Amino acid sequence: MKKVDVVLGLQWGDEGKGKVVDVLTPSYQVIARFQGGPNAGHSLHFEGKKYVLHTIPSGIFRDGSVNIIGGGVVIDPVILSEEIAKLEADGVDVAGKLLIAKKAHLILPTHRIIDAASEASKGKTKIGSTLKGIGPTYMDKTGRNGLRVGDILSPSFEERYRRLKEKHLEMLGQYDFPFDIDDYEKEWMKGIENLKRFRIIEGEHVVNALSNEGKAILAEGAQGSMLDIDFGTYPYVTSSNTLCAGVCTGLGVAPSRIGDVYGIFKAYCTRVGSGPFPTELFDEDGEKMRRIGMEFGATTGRPRRCGWLDMVALKYSVMMNGVTSLIMMKADVLNDFDKLKVAVAYRVNGQETTEFPYETNEEIVPVYKEFDGWKCDINGMRSYEEFPAELKAYIEFIERETGVPVKIVSVGPDREETIIR
Ligand code: GDP
Ligand code: IMO
Ligand code: MG
Repeated sequence: MKKVDVVLGLQWGDEGKGKVVDVLTPSYQVIARFQGGPNAGHSLHFEGKKYVLHTIPSGIFRDGSVNIIGGGVVIDPVILSEEIAKLEADGVDVAGKLLIAKKAHLILPTHRIIDAASEASKGKTKIGSTLKGIGPTYMDKTGRNGLRVGDILSPSFEERYRRLKEKHLEMLGQYDFPFDIDDYEKEWMKGIENLKRFRIIEGEHVVNALSNEGKAILAEGAQGSMLDIDFGTYPYVTSSNTLCAGVCTGLGVAPSRIGDVYGIFKAYCTRVGSGPFPTELFDEDGEKMRRIGMEFGATTGRPRRCGWLDMVALKYSVMMNGVTSLIMMKADVLNDFDKLKVAVAYRVNGQETTEFPYETNEEIVPVYKEFDGWKCDINGMRSYEEFPAELKAYIEFIERETGVPVKIVSVGPDREETIIR
C-alpha cells in the first residue's frame, strides 16, 4: 500500500498548483482532482507553451500518467469537452489517460444561470463567483437533487435532466434575470455524449486499488484553503472543501492513507473576487505585484487583488491541512522591492491576535514585520545556495513561524524554474 500525497493551495487560490503538479508528476503515476470544478484555472508552462486546465488534472501532459477526475469534482460537459478538444488538437492522448468518477456531479446549463441570477441579485454583497454554476451544483448535491456522471448511462437520464431543469426554471422565476439556454443546452447534450468516450469508473474502488498496488498517487487541489466552504472567509468562499479533508470525501481515501501534504503559497498574497483580504494593498506596491506577477485570473481574466504575505492566514491553513512540506511560489515577483512586509498578527476590535479569527468580516488591521528586499534577479538561479541572504532570511522566517520546511521554491512560471531542496 502506498499513501496518497496531496498538493493544495494555502491562500485564496491561484498559488501555482498547476505548475507544481506538473513538476511533481514524474514521481507519480496517478494524479487525481478531488473537488471544485471549472472555477479552477491551473496554468502550466513548458517548452515555450502555456496551457490552462480547468477540470482535467495537471498530470495529463506526462506520458504514462493516469489522470482521475474524482467524485468530489463538479463537471460542466461543455467546458470539459472544450478542454479535451484543445489537448487532443495538441496531440495529447486524453482518452488513454483520463478516468472520470461516476459520482462526480454534473453542472447543468440552468445551474450556471442560477449562479448568475443569484450573484446579480446580491448587488454589493456579491461573492465575485466565476459564474460557472459551482454553488448551485453543490447545493443540488447536498440537497439530494443532483445528476451525476454515472447517471448519463441510464435510460432515464434525459427524463431526470428535464425534471431538474424544470425545477431550476421555476426557481429562476423568482429573479428578474433574462436568459436563454438553448444554444448552451445543445452543446451540453453533445458534451454528455462526448463523456461516453472516456472510461467512467467507480472512483473510490479504483483509487484504493491503485494505492494497494503501490502506485504513487498525487491528489491535486483546486482553489485555496481560505476559500474552503467550512473554514474559509465565509460567505466569500467556494462551495467545496478545499482543505486536505476534501481528499478523503472527494476520492474516497481514508484519513490514515494520506501521506505527504504539500502546501503551496505565493511569496505574497492574491485574491480574485470579493471578500476579506487583510493584507491587501491599494498602492503602487500592489500595482507592481499585479504587473510583474501578471496577476489576472486564468479562468475569468479579472485582475487579482494583491497584498503582502499573511502569516496569520498561512499558519491557519498549515494547521487545518496538516501540511508536511511548504512550496513557495513567485518569489521572483518580489525581486525589485526595497522592503517587504509580512503580517504576523491582526488587530480586530482593538484586540491583537495571531490566530485567524471568526470575525473576518469586521475591520482587520494587520501588524507587520518588515524585511529587506533582495533586489536582484533570482529567475536564473537553480540552487538554494545561490539565493541572496535576504531571500534565505525570508524563507527561514516562514519555516520558523510555521514549523514546516520549505522544500520547493519556484522562481518563474516554467517547469525548469524550480528549486527543489
Ligand atoms: P493555480 O490555479 O494554483 O494553478 O495557479 P494559476 O495558474 O491560476 O496562477 C498562477 C500563475 O502564476 C500562472 O500564470 C503561472 O504560470 C504563474 N507562475 C507559477 N509559478 C510562478 C513563479 O514562480 N513565478 C512567476 N513569475 N510566475 C509563476
Ligand atoms: P484555482 O484552482 C482563485 C473564487 C472566486 C470567488 C469565489 C467563489 O485556479 O486556484 P465560485 O466560482 O467557486 O462560486 O467562486 O471563489 N475562486 C477562485 N479564486 N482561484 C480559483 O481556482 C478559484 N475558484 C473560485 O473568484 O471569489
Ligand atoms: Mg488558478
